[in-house]
Amino acid sequence: MEPQTENLKTAWQLSLGSYYISEEYGFLLPNPLRELPDHYRPWMEIAKKLPHLIESHQLRAHVNKMPLLSCQFLKSYRQQRLAHLVLSSITMGYVWQEGETQPKEVLPRNLAIPFVEVSRKLGLPPILVHSDLVLANWTKRNPEGPLEISNLDTIILFPGGESLRGFILVTVLVEKAAVPGIKALAQAMHAVLQPSQDALLEALQQLKLCIQDMTRTLGRMHDYVDPDIFYAVIRIFLSGWKDNPAMPMGLIYEGISKEPLKYSGGSAAQSSVLHAFDEFLGIHHSEESADFLYRMRDYMPPSHKAFIKEIHSAPSLRDFILSSGHGHCLTAYNQCLEALAELRSYHITVVTRYLVTAAARARSRRLDHLPGPPQALEDRGTGGTAILSFLKNVRDKTLEATLHPSG
Ligand code: HEM
Repeated sequence: MEPQTENLKTAWQLSLGSYYISEEYGFLLPNPLRELPDHYRPWMEIAKKLPHLIESHQLRAHVNKMPLLSCQFLKSYRQQRLAHLVLSSITMGYVWQEGETQPKEVLPRNLAIPFVEVSRKLGLPPILVHSDLVLANWTKRNPEGPLEISNLDTIILFPGGESLRGFILVTVLVEKAAVPGIKALAQAMHAVLQPSQDALLEALQQLKLCIQDMTRTLGRMHDYVDPDIFYAVIRIFLSGWKDNPAMPMGLIYEGISKEPLKYSGGSAAQSSVLHAFDEFLGIHHSEESADFLYRMRDYMPPSHKAFIKEIHSAPSLRDFILSSGHGHCLTAYNQCLEALAELRSYHITVVTRYLVTAAARARSRRLDHLPGPPQALEDRGTGGTAILSFLKNVRDKTLEATLHPSG
């Protein structure tokens, strides 16, 4: 490799790192911590028993007795991320312990104050986000072993047992499958700057393969996650208090604000991967979809959001391809769009099975062994979006970006 190319490659590797993006794990937090310093034992004791405490209706009582702890002993970034995962999970359990008909609309100060404190340190909202539930919620059973589901475990869980574990870990694997694509994207941006059409072609082909691999990985959801459990048990714990008829006013964070605050629930729409791909490929979503998707960027770690912004302000890939007249690059670009639209179509079939069909089944027969499904959230996304029309619109706009050779 020529020294100049080597320098550029190193520069980009450094630059991924400077956005807290790992060469090995992408947007996943590398090797998340499982324990906090001993000072925070009262939080950890509750968090580790969360499914049991929620199912036995004891969580709120335990939280009310929790001491008010300051965040000053959370020294490292990974400790702060674990604290956010722990406090956000306790918060979701506290609010939704009795289902959607009896949410708690006030978060007690001993939970609200440290939760908001650590959220401010991290630049995250005080609610469970994708970067908690997925990016910071995985661990290898055997540290030397591979990143495969048989060697993975979660750190914090809600009710939902193996289905919830599967939901989280398959999403971890989708994030991991995205890593070669994130690197290819970085290489392609350099290829545009150099400029090198050969390097660009190679990077685009790599990106297409990566997106196809993400789709295959998403398909593993069916092996691990029971739709009825997802719909009736898990979903409510991902629900937020913005655009949610079950909590129209929002949530009062005691000791922080007298006015209720509104935040959307956790969703992989908060994953940085597709936002980055969309920006890189120059896909423009309709105003309504874009409003929601842009809002989701405020639920990402600020460094990942900044990475997406950098891609947005880089020279346009589409203009480069059109002006260069390089037919192979144009074809490879269009194939990336097709692969991305296929990923989105496949995601729609997953959402249909886990939300729409499961909702219909829950309506037609009450599942005796399960608590009632959340009524107010029916037909809506966890973030409160009209699901299918939104997702189809986002998919269709992906294909509308297709380039046609000029002349
Ligand atoms: C059982 C599995 C899943 C269900 C039920 C589901 C559900 C949803 C819903 C309801 C939305 C609409 C936005 C919202 O209301 O929050 C959404 C959006 C989205 N989901 Fe999923 N999802 C699942 C798995 C995944 C996985 C594993 C990924 C990949 C990491 C993913 C990526 C996305 C993205 C990127 C969006 C934003 C729309 C787009 O860019 O196409 N989802 N999902």
